[in-house]
Order: sequence, then structure tokens, then C-alpha cells
Amino acid sequence: MDRERLGPARKGKRDFVDSLDFSPEDYQRLFSLADSIRENPARMAKACSGSLMATLFYEPSTRTRLSFEAAMRRLGGEVITVADPATSSVAKGESLADTIRTVGGYADLIVLRHPKEGAARLAALYSPVPLINGGDGAREHPTQTLTDLYTILTCKGRLEDLTVALCGDLRYGRTVHSLIKALTRYPDIRFLLVSPEELRLPDSVKEEVLLLRPGVSLQESEQLEECLPEADVLYMTRIQKERFFNEEDYLRLRDAYVLTPEKLQAAKPDLIVMHPLPRVTEISPAMDADPRAVYFQQARLGMYARMALIADLLGVA
Ligand code: NCD
Repeated sequence: MDRERLGPARKGKRDFVDSLDFSPEDYQRLFSLADSIRENPARMAKACSGSLMATLFYEPSTRTRLSFEAAMRRLGGEVITVADPATSSVAKGESLADTIRTVGGYADLIVLRHPKEGAARLAALYSPVPLINGGDGAREHPTQTLTDLYTILTCKGRLEDLTVALCGDLRYGRTVHSLIKALTRYPDIRFLLVSPEELRLPDSVKEEVLLLRPGVSLQESEQLEECLPEADVLYMTRIQKERFFNEEDYLRLRDAYVLTPEKLQAAKPDLIVMHPLPRVTEISPAMDADPRAVYFQQARLGMYARMALIADLLGVA
């Protein structure tokens, strides 16, 4: 690789920008690796020694950035980071392409979170090293999907024949967009889409899902209660305050769904309740003691899934 040239990306490098960039076989390879790392963390503890990962986060994050950084360190690698765009050259007017070409000359892998939709795809074009999308605006969040699929597989033992209810902000929730597309490729998945009218899943995402699997069951509803008895997986999401244009709409919709143990009485005993976190009001803290609540386990599994992803993209798996 000729990094001195700082030209367009080298051919053959692998990026992870959209959840469909990886096939179900690719995901399975990562799940198996993540399982083996969980069983025996020592085996991979030096796998990335001598490698450097850059995390560029131009939007707030706790889990995604820290789980990536924890993952890299647990593989023996090093991390450099920009977590506050105000202190980087972006504040001086530098283009994303220039930032990425420069950082790609320092690091072996880049994780980017950016408020603009499509920013990660552009960055991948310019990055000389593998680029991972840590969330681009309201569009996609593929490593959350990796985490979510791994959680479903770990907790339910399968990724097919499932009724998956997705609830909350389906319009702006990028984790939902990435997850629904990736799940569509598994057999016999039925979706229950629960949201207020204004926050329904965008038509563009629905169309993509229907192209992937014509006739897939997408049932829309505004009532969570009516969907609960059928669901095997309930994926709750936060109303995405930062993507709203006015505070009034946000406040009106914020408490549209609040999951409580009482509401779950009608649900299957082996339901799992997931959430990409952070939660605000949509899951009552009283839910945390319910064995069906797996969201903190999901966050931890995300770190192992990201260890597998980093090792895979760096070719050390
Ligand atoms: C999600 C995100 O950033 O899109 N969080 C995360 O990465 N775990 C979900 C959210 O912010 O609501």
C-alpha cells in the first residue's frame, strides 16, 4: 500500500459502511470469532499489537467509541482519537476527505461517526485504510447491527423464524435502518413496526427491504400493546431529539412509548428486550430486573463483536 501518495483508497481494502456490506456468511464468521474470543480472551490479547486505530467522532457517543477503543486495547492494539470536533482542524474548515487522507497516513484502521448522511461512504472512498462507519446521521449504524445480530443469536440461538418488533423512532433511528435490512436476509423474519405516525420507517428503507425480500411481512402499528404477544424480539429505540427541527414536536413524541413490566405481562416468556442505548424514558428502570431485558448484555456483546470485526479487517483473525 502506498500511503505516501495519499491518493484514492487502495484497491481490495474492506470497509464496513452499510450493514449490507457484509454477507450473512461474513457476519457468521465474525460471530464465531467473537464467541471464541469470549471463551478464551487470552488467545487474541496480542493479535493487534503494533496496530493503531483512529476513532473520529463528530457526534456524541459513549458506547460506540468506548467499545471500539476497549476492543482494540483488548486485542493489544493502540488508539488515537478525536472526540470533540471543536478541537480538531474541522473547526478550521478542513474537508472530511483531507482529514481522512491524513489520518489514514497515521493509523491502520479508522472508525468515523459523522452527523451527515453519506459521510462514511465518502470517507471510505478517500481512506487508504479500512473505514468503519460508527453512525452517519440518521442513515446507518452497521456495527450496532453487528452487535444486535450477535445478541439475538446469543440469546435466541437463531437468526431465522423470528417476529421482531421495532418500536420508537423508526424514522431517524439509524440503528433500525441498518438492522432491518440485515435481518431481512435471514429466512422467515416478520417485522412489526411500532411508531407514531410522524416517525414511521422511511419509504426508502421499506423499498430496500422489499427489494431484498419481496413479500416480507412489514406490519405497521401505533400501538405497542397489540404487537407484544407475538414478538420474539422487542427492539426499543430512543426518540432522536437531535434530528428534530423543533422542540415542541420532540416533547410531544418523547413519551409515546414507555415499556414497563406490567405491559410485558402479555408478552412471550422468552421474549428478549433490546435497546441500542442510551435510553431516555422509553424503558422504565423497573424493567432492568426482568430477565427478558438484555440491553446491558447487548452492550457488552458489542465489544466482543467489535474485537472480531477489528481483527478481521486488519487480517489478524
Ligand atoms: C445509537 C446511535 O448512536 O445511533 N447509540 C449507539 O450507538 N449505541 C442509538 C441512539 O443514539 O439512540
